[in-house]
Amino acid sequence: MNASLYQSRRNALAARMGPNGIAIVPTAPEQQRNRDSDFQFRPDSYFYYLCGFVEPKAWLVISGDGKTTLFCQPKDLEREIWDGIRVGPEAAPGALGVDAAFSVTELDAKLPALLDGRDAVWFPFATHKGLEARVDSWLAALRARVRYGTLCPEQQRDLCGPLDEMRLIKDASEIATMRRAGHISAGAHIRAMQLSASMLRAGQEVREYHLDAELLHEFRRHGSQYPAYGSIVAAGANACVLHYRADAGLVRDGELVLIDAGCELDGYASDITRTFPANGVFSGPQRVLYELVLASQEAAIAVTKAGARFTDPHEATVKVLAQGMLDLGLLDKNKVGTLDDVIEKRAYFQFYMHRTGHWLGMDVHDCGAYTEPSELGVRHERKDALTGETIINRPARILRSGMVLTIEPGIYVRPAAGVPEEFHNIGIRIEDDAVVTDTGCELISRGVPVAVDAIEALMRA
Ligand code: GLY
Ligand code: MN
Ligand code: MN
Repeated sequence: MNASLYQSRRNALAARMGPNGIAIVPTAPEQQRNRDSDFQFRPDSYFYYLCGFVEPKAWLVISGDGKTTLFCQPKDLEREIWDGIRVGPEAAPGALGVDAAFSVTELDAKLPALLDGRDAVWFPFATHKGLEARVDSWLAALRARVRYGTLCPEQQRDLCGPLDEMRLIKDASEIATMRRAGHISAGAHIRAMQLSASMLRAGQEVREYHLDAELLHEFRRHGSQYPAYGSIVAAGANACVLHYRADAGLVRDGELVLIDAGCELDGYASDITRTFPANGVFSGPQRVLYELVLASQEAAIAVTKAGARFTDPHEATVKVLAQGMLDLGLLDKNKVGTLDDVIEKRAYFQFYMHRTGHWLGMDVHDCGAYTEPSELGVRHERKDALTGETIINRPARILRSGMVLTIEPGIYVRPAAGVPEEFHNIGIRIEDDAVVTDTGCELISRGVPVAVDAIEALMRA
């Protein structure tokens, strides 16, 4: 527990709120899975970012001078026998570096007084069910005592704004954790690739869950708490289902496997996709499409650096993919026209229907505005070529050193009239995690290779 790191984040948040603000940050609720059985608890990302405390039923209250009060579960010998040791309010200031701590059972009694005389109360809007009503009840309790001299905050402000901006730029400790997460996940992908080829060589039946088990084993044996999201292990045509989950599909000799999986380590996600031949050797058509996706990813990586826009990698990707679709006959020039037409009319959408990346951090689709805050007034309207909908475009975020994003182009070929049969049911995505630097980007997920030859080599091993 690096208490001073969390204190410096709380101080930075306080500076953004102003001296007379106050912030309320609950951790995540516990979620029941079914009778007597809960989903594994994961702290709320904002809460964890500000104090690193992993027990459920906890709240942080941070005032504009950075002073922090924690509400946490009280010590309770009987409950601790069943559920595990609690830090408890007495030990919390020493253990966590907060200024004061109380039992969470005192939350309703203490909150009105903590809010008294503040000009603004900040809490995350539209993220925690029932939080608005809870804040209302504390404000109402305070207002009920105005005749005795209490002063109610006049403003309610969304805490997501300042916290999202802070979390968007990763500090050195966050990047170090994300590098480790990327390294573990890369090792897991390598193991899954190798298992697939070696089981097929041994004449064994391979199912998607065999490869999923390999990923989980590798994540956990390196201390990852859980996968950062539901792992996708998609054999053959399943790869064309974008949100497919690891299931029982047969992994067939001669088909591709798409694995999109990353571990979460100490609160930080990794997010890697590799697509590989189940038996370790790409067929001709598989290789051609794979090389196209890889070339589009390289084009995206080449433009990812401080000063570029968030949308630049996507635009670079689309250009390469669209040209490839024309060259390979996936799109018919006589029907769709030139490269510019394909891009303008979004004809490539038939085979590439998602964006090329997203912020990555504590959440796999991490927080942070995708529009540039310094250009908020600028907007232009355009009609979408496919849907005819009016879309409002604002200038995309300018990348800065310390932002982390994924770069994940793909191609998904569902059988359709006019689409060359050799490409039918091939789904390919290649996804890496990039830390933006002043001169380019650092790929923290390349512990698992992407080049055709390197994948074939490691699958022979
Ligand atoms: N695995 C989620 C994503 O790639 O965005
Ligand atoms: Mn992703
Ligand atoms: Mn992914």
